Amino acid sequence: MDILRTPEALRKILDEHKLNTIGYVPTMGYFHEGHLSLMDRASAENDIAVASIFVNPLQFGPGEDFEKYPRDEERDAALAEKAGIDYLFIPSVQSMYPHEMRVSLSMNKRTDILCGASRPGHFDGVVTVLAKLFNIVRPDHVYMGLKDAQQFAVVQSFCEDLNFPLELIGVPTVREADGLAKSSRNVFLTEKEREEAPAIYRALIAGEQLSKDPSINTKEVTEQVKQLITKNTSGTIDYVECLSYPDLIAKEEPRGKMILATAVKFSGARLIDNVIFDV
Ligand code: PAJ
Repeated sequence: MDILRTPEALRKILDEHKLNTIGYVPTMGYFHEGHLSLMDRASAENDIAVASIFVNPLQFGPGEDFEKYPRDEERDAALAEKAGIDYLFIPSVQSMYPHEMRVSLSMNKRTDILCGASRPGHFDGVVTVLAKLFNIVRPDHVYMGLKDAQQFAVVQSFCEDLNFPLELIGVPTVREADGLAKSSRNVFLTEKEREEAPAIYRALIAGEQLSKDPSINTKEVTEQVKQLITKNTSGTIDYVECLSYPDLIAKEEPRGKMILATAVKFSGARLIDNVIFDV
């Protein structure tokens, strides 16, 4: 008999008894190349690749787009199969939440800023559904996009604090040729908004360049980025913030690993994007 005294040591031993590695991509469906890049990685790096489609009511606030979130199961299934997914899990709301939850999860850190500030309870809903999905799928590797960098940072701290036996892998943002981050919500942009939207990424890149100037502070960076977005789009800025990454703490000056992130509201969609860089 062996005695193991750290979670890592126990996990390592138990993992040696599992024959196949499982890679997992949790999604809400309506696939685009961003989702497919996660699936490509999951299938290339594991014996078995699993993806799920579940539009999780718990992470949508009142008045958000739960009802109108785009759905196309048949097209998604064909794309997932092509991307090498072996099992596509599409549970019903009833099977995921057969009754009101008797337990609740609440994040204490990394959630009172960026999207967390304007979407109260959103990340509690995300970690709740992921806790359920991770326990159902029992993946070794979970692939998530850095387009949702705050979500990635929150899920990473959630998995660490609760010792989920999995490795979380952050995959770079996939973009359209003009720089717009791929998103299931881009279909809700008007033609004019779609033309303007690449200005968001251009503004973030400009902000990243400004951050390299040793005399600049984060407030000046975010002001410049706000001006560029306001000047070049008809959207309304929800936030532009420059924070440490992955802790998401406000800093006077951009130093070390930083995230410059924004959310911009258009008539039919709220778009988010970010750049993560070292100063
Ligand atoms: P969803 O918005 O469908 O995104 C599923 C995954 O795709 C997330 O990890 C997201 O970061 C990634 N993704 C989206 N756009 C991307 C892009 N342009 N490039 C690379 N990756 C991209 O995020 C969710 O669903 C949900 O909150 C979920 C984690 C499934 C929990 O319900």
